[in-house]
Amino acid sequence: MKIIIKKDYQELSKSAAILVKERIKKKPDLVLGLATGSTPLGLYQELIRLYEKGEIDFSQITTFNLDEYLGLEASSPNSYHFYMFHNFFNYINIKKENIFIPKGITEKPKEDCLRYEEKIKEKGGIDLQILGIGSNGHIGFNEPGSSFRSLIRVVSLNKKTIRDNARFFKNKKDVPKKAISMGIRTILSAKEIVLLASGEKKSEIIEKVINKKVTKKVPASCLKKHKNVTLIIDQKAASKII
Ligand code: PGA
Repeated sequence: MKIIIKKDYQELSKSAAILVKERIKKKPDLVLGLATGSTPLGLYQELIRLYEKGEIDFSQITTFNLDEYLGLEASSPNSYHFYMFHNFFNYINIKKENIFIPKGITEKPKEDCLRYEEKIKEKGGIDLQILGIGSNGHIGFNEPGSSFRSLIRVVSLNKKTIRDNARFFKNKKDVPKKAISMGIRTILSAKEIVLLASGEKKSEIIEKVINKKVTKKVPASCLKKHKNVTLIIDQKAASKII
């Protein structure tokens, strides 16, 4: 696992954006796995800036998002569909048909999940997967205890995640209790993985991921089994390892 420590959030975001830019330059039809939450916002802003300067062309890339809340319409401001379009896709030249996000409203979640995994394979697999990390160590919505063999599926969010995510909702009771999330195996099938973490609140979990053994209790520890993982973290998130 390669670890890059940046001075602050802005530098972290820039460094991640440069990495994405380089990968797209090398492979214009890159298959990119994307994450939501507060951490990748700076990366998306930086990518939009590079696009506006004419430094990146997104016209041939395909994206697969990690997860979506179950029960939220794409038009709901709290859905990850809404997040992705309003923070990124609306501002770049990606083709709509190349955007894949798990459906939040579905009568057949199992079938949708199977189709999502198949779609990833059909596109040749994910070349580069961007991840955030929950304070409980989750990646995507793979909460502690998730099987390392898991594929995309319906998952129940744990109490800590619901509490962490409540900040985005008017009422805590509105935070969905379930989501559809790529599994750990899905994530580990990506050819390259970049995990971003920023701030003091992530320092404890980053220390665990780096120094403790691989365990289902800390889902992100599974990344140590992968050959091409880079952690890009800021000094605050790195404060317990340096
Ligand atoms: P955050 O969430 O970026 O909002 O801290 C990360 C995550 O839960 O994966």
